[in-house]
Amino acid sequence: MCGIVGYVGHREASGFLLEGLRRLEYRGYDSAGVAIADQAGHVSICKTTGRIERLASALAGSPLHGSIGIGHTRWATHGAATEGNAHPHVGGEHVVTICHNGVIENYQQLKSRLESEGYVFQSATDTEVIAHLVTECLEKECVDEEGKDSQEPYASLVTAVKAALSQLRGTYGLVLMFRDYPGVILAARLGSPLVLGIGDDEHFIASDASPLAGYADKIVYLSDHQIAVVTADSVQVTHRDHGDVRHSVESLQVKTPAVDLGGYSHYMLKEIYEQPESLKNAMRGRLTEDDATAMFGGLNLTPQQLGGVKRIILTACGTSWHAALLGEYLIEEFARIPVEVEYASELRYRNPPVDPGTLVFAISQSGETADTLGAIREMKRKGHRTLAICNVVGSSIAQEADGGVYLHAGPEIGVASTKAYTSQCMVLALLALYFGRMRHLSVDAGMRIINAFHALPSKVRAALQTEEECKRIAAKYCHANNFLYLGRQYNFPTALEGALKLKEISYIHAEGYPAAEMKHGPIALVDESTPSVFIVPQGFVYDKVMSNIEEVKARGGPVIAVVEHGDTRVAELADDVISVPSVEEFVQPIVSTIPLQLLSYHIALMRGCDVDKPRNLAKSVTVE
Ligand code: F6R
Repeated sequence: MCGIVGYVGHREASGFLLEGLRRLEYRGYDSAGVAIADQAGHVSICKTTGRIERLASALAGSPLHGSIGIGHTRWATHGAATEGNAHPHVGGEHVVTICHNGVIENYQQLKSRLESEGYVFQSATDTEVIAHLVTECLEKECVDEEGKDSQEPYASLVTAVKAALSQLRGTYGLVLMFRDYPGVILAARLGSPLVLGIGDDEHFIASDASPLAGYADKIVYLSDHQIAVVTADSVQVTHRDHGDVRHSVESLQVKTPAVDLGGYSHYMLKEIYEQPESLKNAMRGRLTEDDATAMFGGLNLTPQQLGGVKRIILTACGTSWHAALLGEYLIEEFARIPVEVEYASELRYRNPPVDPGTLVFAISQSGETADTLGAIREMKRKGHRTLAICNVVGSSIAQEADGGVYLHAGPEIGVASTKAYTSQCMVLALLALYFGRMRHLSVDAGMRIINAFHALPSKVRAALQTEEECKRIAAKYCHANNFLYLGRQYNFPTALEGALKLKEISYIHAEGYPAAEMKHGPIALVDESTPSVFIVPQGFVYDKVMSNIEEVKARGGPVIAVVEHGDTRVAELADDVISVPSVEEFVQPIVSTIPLQLLSYHIALMRGCDVDKPRNLAKSVTVE
């Protein structure tokens, strides 16, 4: 979703701004723009719809020179994806130029008032309201006495920005440049992340750390209600209500992203193939044979606190929610702790009774999902311990939680989550073992689980060999308009995830169900043109799923089945069979997911879809 960059220093700003926007592309966007001030302080803006490369070509044709600037990738919320609605936006007679992430909920009322006072709006965005409000506050000198008298060169700017921000209801990550103050950028945050990169006589601003790698080795994470005054040689941070604050400078952990495709045609395919390695990384250093358990460095809870956990809530969105569902099955099975899985968007506004002794896990690849962040904050407010399972180090959710576990899956660039999903499943399986061994699980049982974990990466590698078969099946069914995905028990989440993968990158309608639920409605969809994908590993529900396959076949529906090596029964019924290695039932969903990812990938490719950047989707959903 929207991304922000900013630069003030001694080089041409356009270099960092464009490279930073490219690195934020993965978040999803539909237009982009930059504003750069020349030596005389004159601000020029360049905006385009579509990909960053269009913006780069426009800038190559008419370069903007200057060593201070801001840039933005926009994912439309208020107003269509047009050049006019792209950021940056200006207030008044170019008094202020801004880029904004987030949503301003009361923008309509503010817009009406500003229009009645003569401000002319050029766009349909909520953002433009902020630009005019700041202008109003600067022009009307909504500057308190302290601001006027202060020796600080930018005190009046800060006071005006505070006055404008205090009128907003909603969320913002905001960067502002000023016509009459050419050497400074202000950055403000409420609910939408912003970081500052500290260089030598230069400073960088971004909505996450990825643009900073290779430019700065120190980072400042702004907190909500903080406003930073950034010049080439200084950073000063002030709190909306408490005045100046000492900001802590941390070393930047993010390495320069491996942006090359490594010979793959898409990031999604590359990331699918990285799974044997990403699973190893999720386990690395977290298994101990001595105690037949898992161990974690960052939970920040005493053994007594962990032993006293009576209930677990797993909250997440989308694919991460599917991982949470598998986590529920595993934790309840291994540890006998009651688990609930909650959509973060629901949990944050619900008021469920939550007893003391409840532990809340937020699961998020990006660590920036607005709803998941909102849910964890709400749970914290109510006094519950919160832990994060995130991929992006230093992300907002990781910072907000009391502790947590990183996936160590490496950057996931493809919008459709693949390796992060299997790593989330892996980390939840490790947690299930950990909680289980703190309770009733025997050493023997613990060792059996550990052995299954160790074997997993090579089994996943073997499952990747199904690609040719998946391609063949994709060619057969890529013109279908509807798909059903059906699985039971541990593979119910696999069915949900398979359906989501297909719909998000190929735009085919797909639904996932527990296989037996099919009879209660979805079976009405079954006909000769609606393929059903069954996940049918060996196990105690195998015969039940076989009956569900019979039910689909009896109605003429084509059946694609994911089975374990050596299975011959399913092939007698199914139209197409994909065979994956046998593993213990509790890790089978991780193996079975691989061909479903490959199937979606090839179907999307055959339909000519933009696999890595599917329409309307954002990698990091920073608005609710
Ligand atoms: C689907 C997908 C999304 C995300 C969801 C949550 O492939 O990627 O459904 O899983 O937007 O994102 P995170 O995990 O970053 O909180």
